Amino acid sequence: MPAKLVVEGLTHHYPDEYTGESVHALEKINLEVDEGELVTVVGPSGCGKSTLLNILAGLLPYREGIASVDGVQISGPGSDRGVVFQEHAILPWRSVAKNIGHGLEIKGMAKEEREARVKDFVDLVGLSGFEDKYPHELSGGMKQRCAVARTLCADPVIMLMDEPFAAVDAQTRITLQEELNRIAIATKKTIMFITHAVDEAAFLGDRCFVFSARPGRLKAIVNINIPRERRIWADMNADEEFVSSRDEILRLVREEVSVAVEE
Ligand SMILES: Nc1ncnc2c1ncn2[C@@H]1O[C@H](COP(=O)(O)OP(=O)(O)O)[C@@H](O)[C@H]1O
Ligand SMILES: [Mg+2]
Repeated sequence: MPAKLVVEGLTHHYPDEYTGESVHALEKINLEVDEGELVTVVGPSGCGKSTLLNILAGLLPYREGIASVDGVQISGPGSDRGVVFQEHAILPWRSVAKNIGHGLEIKGMAKEEREARVKDFVDLVGLSGFEDKYPHELSGGMKQRCAVARTLCADPVIMLMDEPFAAVDAQTRITLQEELNRIAIATKKTIMFITHAVDEAAFLGDRCFVFSARPGRLKAIVNINIPRERRIWADMNADEEFVSSRDEILRLVREEVSVAVEE
C-alpha cells in the first residue's frame, strides 16, 4: 500500500527582509508515513520541526521538494489534514461539544448524526460530563483533549501534532500520552507527532524520526517495536525495548545538541 504521507527532497529557507540573509530551516527531507502509523519527530529546538509541520498543514508555502497526502500534493490547508498545536486550538465562545462538532457543522452534517458522532469523541477523550462547559472552565489537559477530539471528529486522513502536550504539567502529560496511545489503538489514525521530549517520542512512536540541528535533516529513524496495548508508563522502565529505543534516541539527539554548542 502506498504511504499516506510522502515528503521528498523538502528544503526550506525563510527569507529575512531586513538583512537579506535567509534562515536555512530544512534540508532535503525525505520521509514516508504509512497508513495507521504513529511517527514521532524529535530534534533540538530550532531544527525545523514546526517548519515541517506548518508546511504539511499547508500553512507555509514551500518551493523546493514535494509533500503529498494520498498522492495529492499539498498546496494549502485541507480537511485531509487535522492539526493540533501546543496552544489549544479551540474556540472560547463555544462549548466543548460545539467545539468538537464544529468541523462537522461546517461540512453540513445533520444535527442528529453530528451529535451522535460528537458523543463518541467526547467519550473517547474522556470528557464525558463536560460537554456543556466552556474552554475557560477547563484545565489545560482538558482543553488539549478537546482540541484532539475536535481534530479527530472531522476524520482527517492524517493528524499532525506539534508539541501538543508541552505546556501541561508532568502528571497530566503522562495521562495525555497514554490517552493518545489508546486513541491510536481505537481509531488506527495516521499520526505525525512532533516533540522535543525523547521519552515522549519513544513512548508514542511506532517509528521515531530524529532530526539534526538546523538546518534540519532526517538524521536517523529508530523503530520502537512495542505493541500499543503494552504501552503503559508504569511498565516502561522495565521494558527493554522501550529503554533501548529511548537511549538510542537520546544519544542521537545529544550528539546534535553538542554539535550546536561547539559551533
Ligand atoms: N517565520 C520565520 N522567519 C524566519 N525564521 C524563522 C521563522 N520561523 C522559524 N524560523 C527559524 O527557523 C528555524 C526553525 O524553526 P522551527 O521550525 O520553529 O524549529 P523547531 O520547531 O524545531 O523548534 C529556527 O532557526 C527559527 O528561528
Ligand atoms: Mg517548534
